[in-house]
Amino acid sequence: MAKASANYVCAACSNATTKWAGRCEACGAWNTISEEAPLSKAGPAKKSLGGRGRAVPLTDLSSTEPAPPRVASGLSELDRVLGGGLVPSSAILVGGDPGIGKSTLLLQGAAMFARAGLKVIYASGEEASAQVRMRAQRLGLADAPVKLAAETNLRDILTTLEQERPDLVIIDSIQTMWSDNVESAPGSVSQVRAAAHELTSFAKRSGMSVILVGHVTKDGQIAGPRVVEHMVDTVLYFEGERGHQFRILRAVKNRFGPADEIGVFEMTGAGLAEVTNPSALFLSERGQPSPGSVVFAGIEGTRPVLCELQALVAPSPHSQPRRTVVGWDGGRLAMILAVLEARCGIPFAGLDVYLNVAGGMKISEPAADLAVAAALLSAREDVALPPETVVFGEISLSGALRPVSQTENRLKEAQKLGFTSAIAPSGGKAGAATGMKLQQMGDLTAFVGDLFGA
Ligand code: TYD
Ligand code: MG
Repeated sequence: MAKASANYVCAACSNATTKWAGRCEACGAWNTISEEAPLSKAGPAKKSLGGRGRAVPLTDLSSTEPAPPRVASGLSELDRVLGGGLVPSSAILVGGDPGIGKSTLLLQGAAMFARAGLKVIYASGEEASAQVRMRAQRLGLADAPVKLAAETNLRDILTTLEQERPDLVIIDSIQTMWSDNVESAPGSVSQVRAAAHELTSFAKRSGMSVILVGHVTKDGQIAGPRVVEHMVDTVLYFEGERGHQFRILRAVKNRFGPADEIGVFEMTGAGLAEVTNPSALFLSERGQPSPGSVVFAGIEGTRPVLCELQALVAPSPHSQPRRTVVGWDGGRLAMILAVLEARCGIPFAGLDVYLNVAGGMKISEPAADLAVAAALLSAREDVALPPETVVFGEISLSGALRPVSQTENRLKEAQKLGFTSAIAPSGGKAGAATGMKLQQMGDLTAFVGDLFGA
């Protein structure tokens, strides 16, 4: 019996199945599954060219081929997210919603890398060369030594790369590229995969770095960046909230640097400007101290970032009260509400709860638990926390506060921004942040008693 092969693929999450379905079992998206054409008809095995694919001892590699140095663009927020600069022959994916600013970021990056001495080609499948040039003029980069190619045919792009031998090529976007080896339409899972595979393997062979731009698509009409995440060394997502000027470039996978690192930019009339002190930016909109507002001292990647959490608690007109979260995890909010009720006897039944991370920041650290609890209690009791205080700490289901990493860095950042005291779990060391008044607590009950006199 012939072996069943998985040849239906979801465009949103790239889950493969053996039969078609209206709804993807893995991610739940509708109408995203399509048949994937095989990459090429399997012909007779070609004769080996000899030597390629030969195994080399690891020790030999390190002695004969020292790791080439990274190249920094000078756009320090971009370099930081890459782990300190661009590694030669690496493949990077930059994903994000349409219109978020990916082309702007990468055109600026291309210009900076070119000025740093790299030979850069910017291949745009979305805009004509004249449009890219106009954008470059608007960004004040018209004189940067970047070569442009407006092309969508993969074979033509590879020929150009073969001739030009650049150090870096930017493909904007991977969904517009098509290979004539694959029958399906541009943007389909097979096309995106084939194009990404050809480009990344060319990069590895030739020592060139490649940056692929991928649109995140909600409807799955074209394949999302997920489809190529596993093929590249580094995956970056460019995100931002509508109505907010700033954008966050976040590393979610990086073979050459820390994941979770963020770079912060502000979209201005003249392109993206670096934000070197994100805490100051996230706290800049903070008004008078008010109930429900708490400053969380967090760590994003390798640096501390302060941001404001806002909670609102109000009697609910509904039989099932609302729980709305922006910028944090809804499941984690439910857990904290349950711990407050079970361990401290503070019920939230019959109350609507809204939680917002100000400024469009997204927090994933469990260290924000205590700050969330503080914001919820402050909103519920209608008591403002002292404005010069920051809060951090993880809450366990027993109601105990767990120490978190980098207490000293969090405190130092808070001190730098004018805060004078911090509420944290027992156990962390203030280290060099001697000017901060550190209130350490072992469990949530002590915290509630101390701050709200309950
Ligand atoms: P773009 O880089 O084209 O987004 P993407 O490639 O992710 O689809 O950015 C488009 C948005 O950025 C557009 O709404 C206008 C805005 N923008 C500025 O505000 N200032 C600028 O200098 C530029 C070039 C774009
Ligand atoms: Mg674009």
